[in-house]
Amino acid sequence: MREIVEALEEKRALARLGGGQNRIDAQHKRGKLTARERIDVLFDPDSFEEWDMFVEHRCIDFGMEKTQIPGDGVVTGYGTVNGRPVFVFSQDFTVFGGSLSEAHAEKIAKIMDTAMKIGAPVVGLNDSGGARIQEGVASLAGYATVFARNVDASGVIPQISVIMGPCAGGAVYSPALTDFIFMVKEESHMYVTGPDVVRTVTHEEIDHEGLGGASAHTVKSGVADLAFENDVEAMLYVRRLLNFLPSSNKVPPPVRPNFDSIERVEMSLDTLIPENPNAPYDMKELIVKVVDEELFFEIKPDYAGNIITGFGRMNGQTVGIVANQPMVLAGCLDIDASVKAARFVRFCDCFNIPIITFVDVPGFLPGVNQEHGGIIRHGAKLLFAYTEATVPKVTVITRKSYGGAYDVMGSKHMRADVNFAWPTAEIAVMGPKGAVEIIFRSELGDADKIAERTEAYKGKFANPFAAGRRGFIDDVIHPHSTRRRICKALTMLRNKSVVLPQRKHPNPPL
Ligand code: HXC
Repeated sequence: MREIVEALEEKRALARLGGGQNRIDAQHKRGKLTARERIDVLFDPDSFEEWDMFVEHRCIDFGMEKTQIPGDGVVTGYGTVNGRPVFVFSQDFTVFGGSLSEAHAEKIAKIMDTAMKIGAPVVGLNDSGGARIQEGVASLAGYATVFARNVDASGVIPQISVIMGPCAGGAVYSPALTDFIFMVKEESHMYVTGPDVVRTVTHEEIDHEGLGGASAHTVKSGVADLAFENDVEAMLYVRRLLNFLPSSNKVPPPVRPNFDSIERVEMSLDTLIPENPNAPYDMKELIVKVVDEELFFEIKPDYAGNIITGFGRMNGQTVGIVANQPMVLAGCLDIDASVKAARFVRFCDCFNIPIITFVDVPGFLPGVNQEHGGIIRHGAKLLFAYTEATVPKVTVITRKSYGGAYDVMGSKHMRADVNFAWPTAEIAVMGPKGAVEIIFRSELGDADKIAERTEAYKGKFANPFAAGRRGFIDDVIHPHSTRRRICKALTMLRNKSVVLPQRKHPNPPL
């Protein structure tokens, strides 16, 4: 019996060594952790249970039958993150470059199926040369099996992808189907076709980093949400993100005890809005001062900065925050901001996370690029997302709320539940100057008259009371009491229930 046990331990040790010490050293030399080291950082100590350590590929072509490495290039299993179960697959670049074989895909599919059965998030750590070239179509089929599971799991369990090495070709589409993508700076790349193909086809010269590195995707394309300095930081942020999320769509997000009273007032908010209506201010100051213990987890901070999205807590309960940022493009809604916010709102709605919206928006961004780029279609995504969301929705208008953007940004008419305005709010079809220039075009030569008209327009619409008189705003609140008023609204809305019309699924303007 002792020999049998020893043989088991030898087998385990061999599997844990992956592609061997030399390849592990090479991984470390590049500043990367191994697949198992990443798992160690991700999970609570000693909580990880590995599955399928002895799985091997079944390929007998190109001499592959002589090259068997137990585990076949991916470490799979489950553990806990702050006590709650989470499933993981972590591709092992030291084994066939982490490439995906049929058996490798089956391992991923198995943990995804189990995660769906018990209702727990899946974290995918991607570090792979893509389809196992020697396996041909079997490997492509493997990818498709994973894609299908990504789609089935969407809106049922949170899925987080971390790109920690190469991720190319069709392989990018598994992360793309998940809820969040994190990348590690310098060491991770995502692209459908690499620099060589790009050079051949379009004659553009670009390197891996420029084409598909962390900054390309967190700043320019918006494919990825956050970029980190190294593997450890990325894993710690996955833990932090998971702390905000429910395990599945069937359970509420976790409530964290905290020491921040819901009665806390922030007198400094009374002077947040500058005297000059065109002067910017930092909307993040409001967010941080309102949420529990100033903790705000921003999603896509480097992309479409004119809108802010992220998670915080109010009275211990996770909330999703969407806010216009007057410091970037005056807070206008453009294509990128609309898509960024729409996706975030839909995530929150899938997972029962209430949405708080802070509004200071002068309208949609004008321009040929925007129109020809499809701002109509993309702006409609945000409108669609807000309207179909049935989670509690609380909106606070701090300053401008003009035109169609007023409707879009969590207005009462888009079925927000509680709508507040600060006394500084201006809710109108457009700003006073623009409005007067259109209505009184014939008087444009008379500066005094125009100034008088502008003042009159301001008195009528550049305030929250015209909307208040119609019940479009539930109350005009003191800025300093914003936290207290939102917390009370969320408590009141806790048992909100909405029944939507029967349909297979809606058809948002994708
Ligand atoms: C089999 C692979 C592999 C792959 C890498 N390896 N990619 N084996 N299938 N796809 C092996 C290498 O042979 C090597 O084995 C080891 O992994 C490490 O690779 P290196 O090339 O030495 O590493 P590095 O220099 O860091 O380069 C990494 C790389 C490069 C950029 C990923 O390996 C590469 O270009 N690989 C091919 C990528 C590719 O074209 N994949 C197919 C994409 S299409 P040894 O034994 O020498 O250490 C695709 C379609 C998916 O994925 C479709 C889904 C629908």
